[in-house]
Amino acid sequence: MKKLGLGILGSGKGSNCRAILEHISAGKLPAEARLIVSDVFEAGILDIAREFRVPNVYLPPGKFRTRLEPNVEMELVRLLREAEVELVVLAGFMRVLKEPMLAAFPRRIINIHPSLLPKFPGVESWKQALEAGEKIAGCSVHYVDAGIDSGEIIAQRNVPVLPGDTPESLHARIQIAERALYPEIIAQFCEA
Ligand code: GAR
Repeated sequence: MKKLGLGILGSGKGSNCRAILEHISAGKLPAEARLIVSDVFEAGILDIAREFRVPNVYLPPGKFRTRLEPNVEMELVRLLREAEVELVVLAGFMRVLKEPMLAAFPRRIINIHPSLLPKFPGVESWKQALEAGEKIAGCSVHYVDAGIDSGEIIAQRNVPVLPGDTPESLHARIQIAERALYPEIIAQFCEA
């Protein structure tokens, strides 16, 4: 089977990225990670890229806090196209993508978010779930649109909130579910 070319974008430690790369290495995901991009120079996701020998790049984001500068976003499109990326996978990428990326990869950008969307979009959603007294939390994989965690939902996984949970313990449990769900959903794109 022809391998699906992935571009993985992240700003943090990269545990979802690692899970995807491990699934590929184990022959469980017919994909090829062609480029890993981070807007954070010291992000763990770039160390993981080097460990798995995946081409990687630090992309200085420019002067905005929540999005890329337009010329930087155009450079991102160029890099992903040059690497022949077919599916853009956001794995803890903490900036909102705008028109250059959305127009270049229509319905070809997906994100994983640590809540049962549409509940608790934005940052630290596990904390929001805990504070709201939810009994069931979870994670969602969705298409990326111009909003914040607002695109069409592809799949979700429930995770129980347990008595005595702290934000950290709940996030850790949600991340276990994320690391199973994301490779499974990417595999569906490989079959399509
Ligand atoms: C993940 O929990 C992901 O769902 C979240 O960031 C974490 C990244 O962890 N993403 C968002 O909150 C996006 N709104 P990782 O770097 O270990 O994969």
